[in-house]
Amino acid sequence: MDTVRVGMLGSGFIGEFHTLGLRHVPDCRVVANYGAGAERREAFAGRFGSRPFDSIESLCADPEVDLVVVSLPNHLHVEAVRAATAAGKAVACTKPLGRNASEAAEMVRLVEDGGVFHAYLENVVFGTEMIRMREMIEAGAIGRPITFRAREGHSGPHAAHFWDADLSGGGALLDMASHGAEAARYLFGKDVAVRDVFAWGATLVHGDRTTGEDNAMMIIRFEDERAATCDVSWSSKGGLEGRFEVYGEAGRLIQDITSTPLRGFIERPAGYIGEKADVDTGWVFPVPDETHVHGHDAMMQHVVESFRSGTTPRETFHDGLVVNEILDAAYRSMSSGTWEPVARATAPVAA
Ligand SMILES: NC(=O)c1ccc[n+]([C@@H]2O[C@H](COP(=O)([O-])OP(=O)(O)OC[C@H]3O[C@@H](n4cnc5c(N)ncnc54)[C@H](O)[C@@H]3O)[C@@H](O)[C@H]2O)c1
Repeated sequence: MDTVRVGMLGSGFIGEFHTLGLRHVPDCRVVANYGAGAERREAFAGRFGSRPFDSIESLCADPEVDLVVVSLPNHLHVEAVRAATAAGKAVACTKPLGRNASEAAEMVRLVEDGGVFHAYLENVVFGTEMIRMREMIEAGAIGRPITFRAREGHSGPHAAHFWDADLSGGGALLDMASHGAEAARYLFGKDVAVRDVFAWGATLVHGDRTTGEDNAMMIIRFEDERAATCDVSWSSKGGLEGRFEVYGEAGRLIQDITSTPLRGFIERPAGYIGEKADVDTGWVFPVPDETHVHGHDAMMQHVVESFRSGTTPRETFHDGLVVNEILDAAYRSMSSGTWEPVARATAPVAA
């Protein structure tokens, strides 16, 4: 295959990040985009040189599209994958794969029955620092990793669909701990099965906007007793937080994707500063190349090259399903107050 032609379902925040992530990939173009609002959809098309579509089905059926990228709100992921597979198209989908494990399992069934390429778009495990952490673990730098800790937060989502917990499937846990859960699997080794999960969550700040939890903590226990904690918040002031720490027998590795070498005190706004920045004047921390720092560039390159070469990508729908199983167990634990077992605790590991 020469040029890979991408159809972008979703012309919003992550649709733009995914499209920017594709800009450095050789022989790859975003040829089509869909979004609910005509104005934004057409502005996106004008900016990136794609053709705007007014339905999920018509974009998926378009013969020019080779690979469908799902960058839509959570409640549309299944429908989008159904449309892509019905058209026999390869498909990549953003996190969380489903609103719950039964939706994710349905998506796995659709791609398997359709025999199409599938990739789970989890950018955090493609960040340069995360990959370096994994390489150092493989080199034995910290001995055996024992515990992992993720802290992710911001002051609240930018779009209404996230706040409607019935529509989106959950609150801050589903939205943010999906990253930490997969990062833990990546660093400990995906062949290590997750045994069970203990979680707390509460609506402490945004009760006027959501019935979903705006703060949550989750402990993931693996089959060999090692553990990962994910501590997430939708009420954290001061901009995006993304810290990932792994502690081993012989050392520790720590990254903070939101610390940048650039900082400034500014009295006049300079436009976009970075994802979920709370202020545009005063002390600011602009992110120089955000799609690179957050792993989107490397992720999109890997997905397109895997599709082009007919190989299994590092992250597939099977991984998304395991993450949904972990998160489902966490929600059960919030209600039961006890450790909850995780079904489908491993995924086939890419060769
Ligand atoms: N990897 C990450 O770091 C990351 C970051 C943000 C969002 N996401 C994921 O991306 C997905 C989309 O989030 P987003 O932030 O891009 O949302 P957004 O609101 O910015 O964009 C949503 C897009 O979907 C379209 N759309 C179609 N039908 C819609 C409907 N019924 N309601 C709302 N929008 C509709 C909108 O027009 C828009 O083009 C979610 O699943 C979210 O979890 C991932």
